[in-house]
Amino acid sequence: MRLNILVTGAAGYLGSILCEHLLDSGYRVAALDALIYGEQNLNHLCANPDFDFVRGDARDESILRPLLKDADVVIPLAAIVGAPACDLDPYLATSTNRDAITMLCKLRGRGQLIVYPTTNSGYGTKTGDFFCTEESSLDPISLYGRTKVEAEEIVLSAGNSITLRLATVFGMSPRPRLDLLVNHFTYAAFFDGYLVIFEKDFKRNYVHIRDVADCFIHSIKNSTGMIGSPYNVGLDSANLSKEELALKIREHIPKFYLHFSEVGSDPDKRNYVVSSQRLREAGFEAKRSLDSGICELIKGFRLLGRMPGKNI
Ligand SMILES: NC(=O)c1ccc[n+]([C@@H]2O[C@H](COP(=O)([O-])OP(=O)(O)OC[C@H]3O[C@@H](n4cnc5c(N)ncnc54)[C@H](O)[C@@H]3O)[C@@H](O)[C@H]2O)c1
Repeated sequence: MRLNILVTGAAGYLGSILCEHLLDSGYRVAALDALIYGEQNLNHLCANPDFDFVRGDARDESILRPLLKDADVVIPLAAIVGAPACDLDPYLATSTNRDAITMLCKLRGRGQLIVYPTTNSGYGTKTGDFFCTEESSLDPISLYGRTKVEAEEIVLSAGNSITLRLATVFGMSPRPRLDLLVNHFTYAAFFDGYLVIFEKDFKRNYVHIRDVADCFIHSIKNSTGMIGSPYNVGLDSANLSKEELALKIREHIPKFYLHFSEVGSDPDKRNYVVSSQRLREAGFEAKRSLDSGICELIKGFRLLGRMPGKNI
């Protein structure tokens, strides 16, 4: 049976790649997006009869209800993403990131699976844990992190759901994002040739955008064994500090001057090594390397030239 997948926030950085992977895997995709950044990232999918698009607000019940009728699986990506964007308009952030998810959980039928992405920022902020698994507590500081963690709790307690706690995503997309660490550092190396780095020893983990898309598909195909739990999604081979990441980028762009500063701090104080062992045991492992992602980004920047690319 061919499944119908409803993807909200489908025109974003992740969604525009995910829709392509879902269609390539034989699913029918209904995409919903308010196009708040004026995105034009799904144009190339319109010729595909298995793809449909609705422009609208995921917070609007009259839009969501008819779309849910045909959905076997819902992937709610619509969100105000990142701490700076959420701080600009806390009402917009809370109503989109948390309240719309509460509504979705009420409207969907029990047979409709939800696969929900959240962030792993917040691991260790209160406990000081450095090595983190899904059992470590998530206590994010930023409004962005808090709304996502609250929404994850809502989704998991609603049942018939899987949550994916994504590492910092990297790689090219029709909607490039430069506020993500690998993308940002590679952009600075490519265009500016220098970067000032604060909290240089703080460790983060990373995952390629197409591995994330594949992980959603794996979760749909293997939902029976995965339902009811959160899964960390990262490259275990790439738990690198910011300095180590910058030095890796310098292997590709040798004229990259680094200056380390005491000034500046991450809104969620992210400094952790995250294990994706549970996901591996569920049969999925991220494969695309940081090196391949950096090469891909360099090609993309050559194509696109300088751009704003911030998520605000
Ligand atoms: N990119 C990452 O590193 C990362 C990491 C962890 C989790 N996530 C989660 O993945 C999801 C997608 O993130 P992204 O990086 O693609 O962000 P993005 O900002 O590129 O995409 C979000 C999309 O949602 C749409 N949107 C916002 N509010 C809407 C609304 N009310 N109704 C309909 N559409 C709306 C926007 O127009 C945009 O196209 C988010 O839920 C985010 O929290 C992303």
